[in-house]
Amino acid sequence: MADRYLTDNFAPVDREITETELEVIGALPAELNGRYLRNGPNPLGSVDQATHHWFTGAGMVHGVRLEDGRARWYRNRWVRSAEVVAALGESVGERRLGGVNNTHVIGLAGRTWALVEAGAPPVELGYELDTVGVNDFFGTLTDQAFTAHPKIDPDTGDLHAIAYHWPDFMDHVQYVHVGKDGRVRRTVNVPVKGMPMIHDMSLTANYVVVYDLPVTISFDLIGAGMRFPFGWNAEHVPRVGLLPRAGGAADVIWCEVEPCYVFHPMNAFEDATGNVVLDVCRYERMFQRDVHGPFGDSRATLDRWTIDPRSRRVSEQRIDDRAQEFPRCNPHYNSKPYRFGYSVAVGEDGFPGINKVDLASGVIERVDLGPGRHAGEPYFVPRQGARDEDDGYLLCLVYDAGRAASELMVVDARAPLEAPLARVLLPARVPYGFHGSWIPDGFDGPSV
Ligand SMILES: [Fe+2]
Repeated sequence: MADRYLTDNFAPVDREITETELEVIGALPAELNGRYLRNGPNPLGSVDQATHHWFTGAGMVHGVRLEDGRARWYRNRWVRSAEVVAALGESVGERRLGGVNNTHVIGLAGRTWALVEAGAPPVELGYELDTVGVNDFFGTLTDQAFTAHPKIDPDTGDLHAIAYHWPDFMDHVQYVHVGKDGRVRRTVNVPVKGMPMIHDMSLTANYVVVYDLPVTISFDLIGAGMRFPFGWNAEHVPRVGLLPRAGGAADVIWCEVEPCYVFHPMNAFEDATGNVVLDVCRYERMFQRDVHGPFGDSRATLDRWTIDPRSRRVSEQRIDDRAQEFPRCNPHYNSKPYRFGYSVAVGEDGFPGINKVDLASGVIERVDLGPGRHAGEPYFVPRQGARDEDDGYLLCLVYDAGRAASELMVVDARAPLEAPLARVLLPARVPYGFHGSWIPDGFDGPSV
């Protein structure tokens, strides 16, 4: 089953490209000055299919720079690790190189950071995606453990994260609060059993949400030499923890849920009654039969969990039973009541569309990309001066099998079913990958 994650548009590309002045179909909004960056796995050299996992390939960041309505460049660069440098015949130089930082790329404190699942510290990149080296938040990340999925507090610009770190954190995960200046403000160790894989987290007005779900370290998979040895564990009690933002480990409110797995929440908030509402892409099973990647066990539905922190009761409700992933919302609404979310439609052999979910009306607009076209994560950029939640742009990499190449698509989020505002044609394929950000030029705040 491993070859699923190494063929078609999962297959890695074999070179780095720099191309300037790209062809644009349509009109790029002139206000979009900055870089759209996206990270993903791009193994180089020979890959042992038996032990491969989609999550373990060397990181490659793809970037498109937009300026004054033009697409100035496309670049793709491996995130340098010792392994990558050796394979490319380069020297390490003075740099402290990191691990496989392949999961997300964000902007914070005027820097660009490549992030990874499972604990390794961030790697700083230059503006043109060269690897500067490990940056442990300017020396403040004491335990050297972070995550690919910090969440932004739009009121402060700070980031909040839950890090699991295999094998360094045997009996806990760690809440990490990073200030908008890129310095760690506070950490809290939260005890958990069995080393669960906690991919993402949620933030609300009062809580940090810990998804302690039944995918855990597997000694069978370690014994089999798997490079990402996490598997379904029916013995692990599935639960969600509500850590008060200023609280300690003893204050966590644990609430049991039905067995499932969640990589990504769309958003979370507290309603007028104090209930915690979590909108999540929920899998019935994960890494049970398919231990090479996330698409062989079950498909994610979009569900709403409403938690009463007083009774610890959780009610689960299905919003959309059609398979979807990479949920997003307007970042200004993160941790707050919101109406609109966006996600990628997951099909039998790819990612055939984008969803705009109206959580108030229940209406879901599905953008069908057409034959042979596949979407990546839709990233929402608010329009300058926007007053409405959905007044902005969706930036999304689309793979076009007909052209054997990808494009950056810019969609008016208010009217997603209309033709895209612009399509920037890229000179190569961007393999299916994980997460990205729009990082405006000259912006020192967080872009996550
Ligand atoms: Fe993720």
